[in-house]
Amino acid sequence: MKPVSLQDALYSQGFGTRRQCLGLVQDGQVLVNGQPAAEAGQPLATAGLVLTVAGQTWPYHAPAYLMLHKPAGVECSQKPSLWPSVYSLLPAPLRQRPQKGAVSGVQAVGRLDQDTTGLLLLTDDGHFIHRMNSPRHQVPKVYEVTTCDSLTEAAIAQLLQGVVLDDDPQPVRAAACERVDAHHLRLTLTQGKYHQVKRMLAAVGNRVEALHRSAVGGLCLPQDLLPGQWRWLGPDELARIEG
Ligand code: URA
Repeated sequence: MKPVSLQDALYSQGFGTRRQCLGLVQDGQVLVNGQPAAEAGQPLATAGLVLTVAGQTWPYHAPAYLMLHKPAGVECSQKPSLWPSVYSLLPAPLRQRPQKGAVSGVQAVGRLDQDTTGLLLLTDDGHFIHRMNSPRHQVPKVYEVTTCDSLTEAAIAQLLQGVVLDDDPQPVRAAACERVDAHHLRLTLTQGKYHQVKRMLAAVGNRVEALHRSAVGGLCLPQDLLPGQWRWLGPDELARIEG
């Protein structure tokens, strides 16, 4: 990887404008791999680079890939209407990372409803977002569905065969559907239509009481990642997502 200047490294990680990044170095607020930074123009190898900015330790990531355990009561929107934004759970540099010169931060890969919990991926890699959202790629997403009414064998067969939703005559079907108990279904979908799980359950005469996404591709939500917490994705985890 090409070396970058310290100022560019700070800018790319979301620590403000180039001028603000220069100021941080000049004010002695930046450590590079634990050592005080000499000057903003110093070239740095980015592999394994760890910056410390005003006391905050920041491993260099470009691009950024992360997972978040989305709690209920937050919206997957930059401009939420009723609930706090999911982006408010992230530290400022992740929200301020520049994209093509403009501040846009990381973006959620698809959306979960306000009341849905579980695994949400975020990145500033537009190609990754595009691939993951493309119907051609068919990345499986696993949902743990708590239903209001008991699950019947007929409903499960229908979900696997396909149900027609109100915005498309083409039936949508579950890639897998496992009845865990009378009110708990493990549903795997490869599409990502608006309110898809809730609408599919409504189409078979049931209703979703609670919805939790437990996996995307081969990546499961880690048990020790608590609601509201996030962490960087490692290369192995990233590879598992697209399988
Ligand atoms: N399907 C839904 O209905 N809601 C979600 O949040 C995700 C999938």
